[in-house]
Amino acid sequence: MEPKKDINEFDIPFAQRTYLNNNNSTLLQKLLIYSPFLLLLFSITLFSLIRKIELTPLNIFSSKTERNSNNRILGHLPYKEVSKDKLVLIEPNIEVHIDMRDSLLKMREEAKKDGIYLVFLSGYRSINLQNDIFYSLKSIRNQEAAERARVSAPPGYSEHSTGFAIDIGDATQRETDFETEFENTNAFKWLLKNAPRFHFKLSFNKNNKYIDYEPWHWRYEGSIEALKVFESSNRK
Ligand code: DAL
Ligand code: ZN
Repeated sequence: MEPKKDINEFDIPFAQRTYLNNNNSTLLQKLLIYSPFLLLLFSITLFSLIRKIELTPLNIFSSKTERNSNNRILGHLPYKEVSKDKLVLIEPNIEVHIDMRDSLLKMREEAKKDGIYLVFLSGYRSINLQNDIFYSLKSIRNQEAAERARVSAPPGYSEHSTGFAIDIGDATQRETDFETEFENTNAFKWLLKNAPRFHFKLSFNKNNKYIDYEPWHWRYEGSIEALKVFESSNRK
């Protein structure tokens, strides 16, 4: 029996030896040559990812802000006029969106049971009527558009044109109709406490930067259509 000898490089035929050696060194060489590029590519990808994460919330915020403020005119959001077939007359001169009729009348009934007498002052207003209100009153009062817009929306920008807005007064204190003093009436105090139960919300509170406080102006948000109409306004 032949003595066992250790296999060394010289046991491998020369041709194969060269092949194996070449292969290993080529791989190593390639790695050495490309490693700076791979490192650079990795760094760029990582940097871009980090930048993207950092910038994304900022971009969403600024584009949203831009879109919202671009839609507004003198602080008012645009509203389409409701189609005539969706309007119902609830009393002389007061038309409202059919979706809110029952809730509005129910609210008045419930208030009455508590000794509170609500009076409806203004419901649906066409864009034409809003046009007359905005421009004629503006000139009668010798006011600039921005001043007038604090109390009256430009045509095409009033919640009243949607049929979902209602101005409410206190039947026992008519001198407070459309006045800030309405907030001191029992009717207003009752509304503040109970209106949400009937899906009504105060549209212009004291925090509004452009539009004056209107304690008498309420909007209905008790149907999907109404919620869609006021979606932009509620998102801010
Ligand atoms: N008074 C509110 C702002 C309107 O005219 O719609
Ligand atoms: Zn109003």
